[in-house]
Amino acid sequence: MNMKIAILGGTGEQGFGLALRLAKNYEIIIGSRSREKAEESAERIKKILSSKKISYRNVIGMENREASREGDIVILSIPYQHTISTIKNLREELKGKIVVSIGVPLAGIIGDKPTRVILPPEGSVAEMVQQYLKDSKVVSAFQNVSAKVLECIDEPVDCDILICGDNEEAKRKVIEVVNSIEGCKGIDCGELEMSRYVEQITPILIGLNIKYKLKGSGIRITGLRM
Ligand SMILES: NC(=O)c1ccc[n+]([C@@H]2O[C@H](COP(=O)([O-])OP(=O)(O)OC[C@H]3O[C@@H](n4cnc5c(N)ncnc54)[C@H](OP(=O)(O)O)[C@@H]3O)[C@@H](O)[C@H]2O)c1
Repeated sequence: MNMKIAILGGTGEQGFGLALRLAKNYEIIIGSRSREKAEESAERIKKILSSKKISYRNVIGMENREASREGDIVILSIPYQHTISTIKNLREELKGKIVVSIGVPLAGIIGDKPTRVILPPEGSVAEMVQQYLKDSKVVSAFQNVSAKVLECIDEPVDCDILICGDNEEAKRKVIEVVNSIEGCKGIDCGELEMSRYVEQITPILIGLNIKYKLKGSGIRITGLRM
């Protein structure tokens, strides 16, 4: 577990929740377009964990480029519509690294329903990221867990995390990271192209949250003997 995890856009909802959960076992680098904003988020995370007497490894804030350089695993926690503009300038820093795509292409960005997706031509956000970062090992994860659930640090996360990717070793490492979160189980779902189906589960969960007034529904795969 001696790995540094950088979370680009870690100042936002999902990245912040992931950082809170992962800081227990990993050194966390919050990435942002603004170093100051990243450092503020890192301080806020440390304050929350300390107030709850949860021990953590180091949490620091950096500008996205520096965070990409420093992280062993880099999580892209950036809104779908800003993904390409963010990563196309970071190809060098992300070369050879495990890059975790967590994006869901919700149609809300074009003013449509939040229960629809507009898939990119590559098939999924994860495949689009791999297309732009040809020299990185892209793994898809965390699309079906809600930020609201992640931030409730007093409770285990009740959700399986579906993992897709073309590099077996990278997937294994991401599954290890996922399994470090109490209540999460990482499940290898095959090649990166399977992410197009995983990303399309999220609108169903959003619909359930609206219909049943839930904080954040999640998924469980039954029948597995792991
Ligand atoms: N929220 C959820 O429950 C949830 C669940 C599953 C998956 N996801 C996925 O997680 C990712 C992040 O979601 P989120 O809800 O955390 O998003 P968010 O809070 O709206 O944004 C995350 C961060 O992205 C950065 N950002 C905003 N505009 C940008 C731009 N023009 N260029 C570069 N960076 C920009 C901001 O960081 P700085 O201003 O600090 O640079 C912001 O804090 C998305 O891909 C989403 O689909 C979210």
